[in-house]
Amino acid sequence: MWCARTMGGLLAAGAIGLTVTGASADVVELVSVADNTMYSESGDLSNGAGDYFFTGVTGSGDRRRGLVAFDLSAIPPGSDVTSVTLQLYMSRTIVGPEPVALHRVLEGWGEGGSQADGQEGGGGDAAAGDATWEHRFYPGDTWATAGGTFVATASATEMIDDSGFYTWASTESLLADVSGWVDDAAGNFGWVVIGNESATPSAKRFNTREDGSAGGGRRPRLTVQFTPPAETGACCFPDGSCTVATSDACVSGGGGYQGDGVPCTPDLCPAPDGACCFPDGGCNVRTALDCAAEGGDYQGDGTDCSPDPCPDPVGACCQPDTFCAELTADDCDAAGGVYSGDGTLCVPSPCRLEPFVDPLPLPAVAQPIVGEPGGAAEYEIAMTQFTQTLHRDLPPTTVWGFGGTYPGPTIEARTGEPITVTWMNDLRDAAGDLRTDHFLPVDLCPHGPDHEGNTPRTVVHLHGGHVPEESDGYPEHTFLPGGSDVYEYPNLQEAATIWYHDHALGITRLNVQMGLAGFYLIRDDVEDALNLPAGEFEVPLVIQDREFRPDGALVYPEEWEEHFFGNTLLVNGKVWPFFEVKRGAYRFRILNGSNSRTYLLSFSDGTVMHQIGTDGGLMETSVALTELLLASGERADVIVDFSAASPGTEIILTNSAPAPFPGEEGVGVIPEVMKFVVTSDAGTPYEVPKVLRPLEILDEADAVMTRDFVMTKEPEPCAGSRWLINGLGWDDITEYPVLGTTEIWRFANRSGIMHPMHMHLVFFQVLDRQAFELIDDEIVPIGDPIPPEENERGWKDTVRVEPNEITRVITRFEDFAGLFAYHCHILEHEDHEMMRQFQTVFPCPADLDGDRDVGFTDLLTVLASWGPCDVECPADIDGSGDVGFTDLLAVLAAWGPCV
Ligand code: C2O
Ligand code: CU
Ligand code: CU
Repeated sequence: MWCARTMGGLLAAGAIGLTVTGASADVVELVSVADNTMYSESGDLSNGAGDYFFTGVTGSGDRRRGLVAFDLSAIPPGSDVTSVTLQLYMSRTIVGPEPVALHRVLEGWGEGGSQADGQEGGGGDAAAGDATWEHRFYPGDTWATAGGTFVATASATEMIDDSGFYTWASTESLLADVSGWVDDAAGNFGWVVIGNESATPSAKRFNTREDGSAGGGRRPRLTVQFTPPAETGACCFPDGSCTVATSDACVSGGGGYQGDGVPCTPDLCPAPDGACCFPDGGCNVRTALDCAAEGGDYQGDGTDCSPDPCPDPVGACCQPDTFCAELTADDCDAAGGVYSGDGTLCVPSPCRLEPFVDPLPLPAVAQPIVGEPGGAAEYEIAMTQFTQTLHRDLPPTTVWGFGGTYPGPTIEARTGEPITVTWMNDLRDAAGDLRTDHFLPVDLCPHGPDHEGNTPRTVVHLHGGHVPEESDGYPEHTFLPGGSDVYEYPNLQEAATIWYHDHALGITRLNVQMGLAGFYLIRDDVEDALNLPAGEFEVPLVIQDREFRPDGALVYPEEWEEHFFGNTLLVNGKVWPFFEVKRGAYRFRILNGSNSRTYLLSFSDGTVMHQIGTDGGLMETSVALTELLLASGERADVIVDFSAASPGTEIILTNSAPAPFPGEEGVGVIPEVMKFVVTSDAGTPYEVPKVLRPLEILDEADAVMTRDFVMTKEPEPCAGSRWLINGLGWDDITEYPVLGTTEIWRFANRSGIMHPMHMHLVFFQVLDRQAFELIDDEIVPIGDPIPPEENERGWKDTVRVEPNEITRVITRFEDFAGLFAYHCHILEHEDHEMMRQFQTVFPCPADLDGDRDVGFTDLLTVLASWGPCDVECPADIDGSGDVGFTDLLAVLAAWGPCV
């Protein structure tokens, strides 16, 4: 019994007559493994074990359909079936030629033990498992369609006439039927063989597999020609990778074929290996891929580590002159360098950053939104966060800057031509959101952060600007990201090199460290008439010190420290830049924009600087210098003439000021600032005129007031210490200078380091310096007062107050009433809390005792001096030369506080 549902399991039984010829084109000849007849007149008739099956219509009008199936499992799945021939032997008919068609059966069917009598045309009783007209497997499973479920279209049709062999040959459908069954044996249900069912009679009888006549030679026979599928197997490539391929494809692809049917398993294909040299000089045997992945240098397949094929290891070598180079330890030693270790790299450099490899950047001129640079104009300048490359070998550094650059753009202004600037805080984090915290850690001890936390507040001060209180950058008038303020700068002052920078209470040091500073140049007719070097020959230089991590990030202490000294100098935002100069005169506007560091600048070849200007503008006469001392916040306007230098001359701008300052010689010094390289291009020499600009000397005799300020460091529980002026802080206001009056301010420094004292609103003149001693904790001047340095004899806004010295300055308060800061310009000192404020007030003539209050003592003074008065007569308020009734009325009318 053959069962289509289990046909695969009966392969051996069915493979009778199997022939295999050749390797590429094979042929199999198969005898049917099942055949049967369906009788339309009854669902109980079949002929499983009979010698014949029937097709067509009987004389009484009943239909017969044959079923025949072959076992194709001898043909490997995937084979290309090239020819199919079905041969049936027709052994009995009473009609002439009739078509007989093969249709592919779609459901499994069976051949049981039924056996018809005689010529077998009437069928026999169906046995279990037989196919009948109704059943696929009698008596249970029935066809979906009575008479068999099959494809409506015939796969092949032949005309069958008299007895003999008939052949259904390779139609496309027959080929498709067989090749489908080869690939999917479970779908192989053979063909139904159908005669002409529209003619009566038309029956034909065919021999089955049970027929023994002619030695069994008349059984249904299927001949299939096919090309078996190409054999595949694992293919190993030189890199150790494996793919399944045919032998041909493998070999032609440069692989090694591992045999038919061999699968790729993880360690099937060993990659060849060889010696791998590592940067530290080590040698290990590795595959080429692993070697590369580990950063080694592969020496080739089959090489090994002994003898050691690897070159001596190299590492970063910090050499005294050419700085970082990757050398062997021996070569580094020979070069006098310091070896950083095997395998260390020069980028990022473990050495000090190499100086003089980046050209000096020149800050751009700020462009107004209304007007022109250098005239009355309106500007909008935003403070933003961005990255900037500060040295060739340093990854970009996150900085804050004005107008998208560090330092900010240079504002060009002209005396008498007011400008406005809308200062905007647009500091955003890396995600583009307005910042809510500072980029640097904020110490919450100092005044400011103690209330405001670590918010990124900013406010812009124009250092050296004579401006109203509202536009002065009052340290408490800060605004957060998203905020802005419009400042008016009247420019009612002489030509000068001034600058703008952040001034937020308690975090100025952080904001300026991040980069918030820029130049502001005021020009006027007097300066123009001097025909100073201009254009490319006028160069601002802001010197700042910073420290960097190898990833480019700024290093700044998390907790407040009493000063900050970087280990690297930048000019105009580049580390140790170089500047190519023509053989002519240059005007350099030098600004010490550092937080704490003082500079003592010289040219390495002794080139002379002619200082023409101080903080407040041109001096009366120029001063020739070979050394220029600049404390934080100070500026010097100098002429340097390179016209005598031969082309190719390299001149280093050097620094010799110790840090802290003053200090022991050589301690904390960064000896180089930048390099000037003289080109062969001609410039123009400049003869500095004898008199630059007449200077009004303030007369001590005009001073209405002398104020004393004592600078000390005091213990403070939060940060450990803080710097103070007269023991008082920012909120303690005790100075009320009267507008229009002149005062002398005496700064006495009771600490070991210099404080550059700066006053807002005014320029002052330095009167003198005098040493003092402390006797019973009292300041007692000793020796003679020393006049200021020659290059301090002009308008200043920042002055060095040296330890144990009293520095006296004289100034006239003018124009703007309000609150203004004065402070030490070491920003760490300023932040905690060597910064106080004075309040300028309008004159109050009736306030005779100067207590900013017209009261009883003033009245008494008038009464006491009643009558004519000659030389000094403060009570003569109306200036009549007589202290009388109107003076008394003036006191009474002004009764009360006057501010
Ligand atoms: Cu340059 Cu009050 O600062
Ligand atoms: Cu200032
Ligand atoms: Cu100070």
